[in-house]
Amino acid sequence: MRRHLLSIDDLSRDDIERILGRAESFAEVSGREIKKVPTLRGRTVINLFYEASTRTSSSFELAAKRLSADLVSVKSSGSSVDKGESLKDTVQTLSAYDPAAIVIRSPHAGAAALVARWTRASVINAGDGKHEHPTQALLDVYTLARRVGSLAGLRVWIVGDVMHSRVARSGILAFSRMGCEVTVCGPPTLIPRGIESLGCRVRTTLDELPEADVVYALRMQHERMDGSFVPSLREYAAQYQIDGRRLRPNQLLMHPGPVNRGVELAAEVIDSPQALIVEQVESGVVVRMAVLYELLAGHGAPSGVRAQPATEPQPA
Ligand code: NCD
Repeated sequence: MRRHLLSIDDLSRDDIERILGRAESFAEVSGREIKKVPTLRGRTVINLFYEASTRTSSSFELAAKRLSADLVSVKSSGSSVDKGESLKDTVQTLSAYDPAAIVIRSPHAGAAALVARWTRASVINAGDGKHEHPTQALLDVYTLARRVGSLAGLRVWIVGDVMHSRVARSGILAFSRMGCEVTVCGPPTLIPRGIESLGCRVRTTLDELPEADVVYALRMQHERMDGSFVPSLREYAAQYQIDGRRLRPNQLLMHPGPVNRGVELAAEVIDSPQALIVEQVESGVVVRMAVLYELLAGHGAPSGVRAQPATEPQPA
């Protein structure tokens, strides 16, 4: 595995499986009363978030803390970014603390790759514009595999605002790498041209949705829309909302959160037993622990980056 996690393309299927297995071992740790292992003691992790986040930032924080790392969380508002400090200067400043990892979320595609050029730390992309969100895809694969076992041959439909979705892009790559058949579906204005090259089919109606094993709904990304992509949210919901009528009893439902209730999902499906949405959030912590472990302590960690010997998760 490489030193950074910028894209799902950085990972082979073996890498993904190793991370899932590692996450599984951390799930055991998370079931204990004391949810901490000494693996990253003395190492520093910096969370650098230039965009709103609830789940991703809190789960990366918990992941770093449960691995005993020292954690610094910097949000763009309230930091010197507000005073106009550039990303490069901010990264170089924070790199003076000699962090083992920098977790970066940015509204700009490619930001994580730039950060990787400016620091000696391992860089983890926690969402860069509409480009990628690899740890989301890993936790999605983990959550689904825990529920159904093997993912081979599973039909996954990713429905909604594919155009603005880094979750969709990383999801297509990860699900297809794990052997799923991926279809993306949404209004033609919200399907980027050429998306098939990532390894999916495209549909613009829900007519064939009954064939899906898994329905993965995306949030309408209002904040990334400058023009008008759909006539109205009501119109969008009429054609693409996943509700109790469209979701078959044998289908599983996923969503990265935050949900726009009543837009991409109807209340009755969000709260149904078919929904894996809460499990996805829960998986976020152990999968991000596994990613930090892989990059900083596990297989492939570059020599010289280790501050002290890595420690396996300790038995209770
Ligand atoms: C996603 C994101 O920010 O990319 N949320 C998340 O990380 N759980 C999806 C979204 O905002 O729609």
